[in-house]
Amino acid sequence: MNAPAQPAPPPAFTIRPAVFADARGIYGLIIDHCDRLVVRSLSNVIEHIDRFLVAVTPDGEVVGAIAYEFLAEFGDPLRTTAELQSVCVKPAWRKQGIGRAIVEAQIRRLEPYCVWQIIVLTYEVEFFERLGFERIDKRQIMHKLYRGCANCSKHESPFTCPEVAMARTGTPAPAQH
Ligand SMILES: CC(C)(COP(=O)(O)OP(=O)(O)OC[C@H]1O[C@@H](n2cnc3c(N)ncnc32)[C@H](O)[C@@H]1OP(=O)(O)O)[C@@H](O)C(=O)NCCC(=O)NCCS
Repeated sequence: MNAPAQPAPPPAFTIRPAVFADARGIYGLIIDHCDRLVVRSLSNVIEHIDRFLVAVTPDGEVVGAIAYEFLAEFGDPLRTTAELQSVCVKPAWRKQGIGRAIVEAQIRRLEPYCVWQIIVLTYEVEFFERLGFERIDKRQIMHKLYRGCANCSKHESPFTCPEVAMARTGTPAPAQH
């Protein structure tokens, strides 16, 4: 006789769009990783809350976060880039698939926009390689460097910064008539 089926265990975390009540949790994650992430103020997190997804535990603790920003290519809407930002998982929750889940969820969320490419600047090269990203030359994302890196005081120039630029192809735009 077969053993009775066991009820499925409750999910350890849920991925969902962030709400204002998550802002402090997201801000705390970012501040705790200021060596790895571009620092944001709490106000900045609140003003951009619609660009965040969060991973939350059943009791509502924010244990992972990710945001995005669109980068326009002058005069060419079909070559719009989306940058993944503030990608972070609480140390005690790492290596359980949360990082992969939030990156994949954010990529799915971007699909309807048909971005040309999705980029990230990161030290976590192997992690993003597992998610289909490849290294690119930073000179391919000058718009990002001028907009995001120009005011960074950590390094003299984006070309001496050890963060690696990586990209993954976006979603083809539907044919236009
Ligand atoms: C990078 C980070 C988000 C990964 O989160 P995570 O929840 O541990 O990742 P996952 O468990 O989903 O791992 C996904 C895959 O990447 C691998 N991986 C995760 N971290 C890795 C690392 N540091 N080096 C190599 N591989 C790694 C996992 O083994 C897993 O591989 P698999 O799919 O073959 O099993 C997390 O380490 C982090 O928050 N780091 C600090 C902030 C940071 O540097 N963010 C990136 C800035 S862009």
